[in-house]
Amino acid sequence: MKLSFAVSAGLIGSAAAWSSMSMKSDIPSSAATSRREIFQKGAAAVFGLATAANAQSARAYDLPDLPYAFEALEPYIDAPTMKIHHDKHHATYVANLNKATEGKEAKPILDLMEDAIAAGPAVRNNGGGHYNHAFFWEELAPADQAAKTKPSEQLLSLINKSFGSLDEMKAQFEARAAPGALFGSGWVWICVNQAGDALKLVGTPNQDNPLMKGAADEIMFPILGLDVWEHAYYLKYQNRRPEYVSNFWNLVNWDKVSQNCAYVIEKHAGVPF
Ligand SMILES: *[C@@H]1O[C@H](CO)[C@@H](O)[C@H](O)[C@H]1NC(C)=O
Repeated sequence: MKLSFAVSAGLIGSAAAWSSMSMKSDIPSSAATSRREIFQKGAAAVFGLATAANAQSARAYDLPDLPYAFEALEPYIDAPTMKIHHDKHHATYVANLNKATEGKEAKPILDLMEDAIAAGPAVRNNGGGHYNHAFFWEELAPADQAAKTKPSEQLLSLINKSFGSLDEMKAQFEARAAPGALFGSGWVWICVNQAGDALKLVGTPNQDNPLMKGAADEIMFPILGLDVWEHAYYLKYQNRRPEYVSNFWNLVNWDKVSQNCAYVIEKHAGVPF
């Protein structure tokens, strides 16, 4: 089953429903078993062939579609970068996550995140890579649409309380994302803390994120994140990461970030996919 991202946004109030819907449900109806199916099952049992159903059950996690066209974020993020980033990098994390979890219970992505570090590098890196990218695509919008969005009163009051002002939050975020502060590959996040009463600026290496136990001082709930891996910007910006980071603000969908903020405070959980 494949649900579009537009649908997933609508389901945001129903984490459990979304988590279970994003899992493959592929148990065939036994009442409909035909001669051909009996033959196929027999053959599969004898020769160890994967039937379509078996092949599907190994694929618990799906690559979501982008909620816009590859070129929609131009000129700030170029179409070739978006295509490679989504179709190659994100797709590879999903494929490797499915490989790493093959034959095991398909956990909802948020459960997977919480224990990702303890689960070892394959789940940590590929699970994180899947969650982080799915999160990232959703918070962005074409610049003309993004310009019409703004932080909610709830979000703005948390920003004011935690950083002083939106401009100050942006300045601190940009400083945290600079190569000198976040060396190598990683992500920068704005999160709601455990208590649900403040925002925190967090940098994580590789594909870690603050939902993972042990990634930060406490588990926190991301509401905004930025990929600062070279694969996210190198084709257009080469070594000019700070320019990529400051241009990022032109693409932030503050309505979605506000929705994330309301959701994580109400549910005391991360945004689900
Ligand atoms: C946040 O601070 C700005 C000034 O920096 C102010 O204009 C705005 O009303 C404040 N909003 C909230 C919700 O506190």
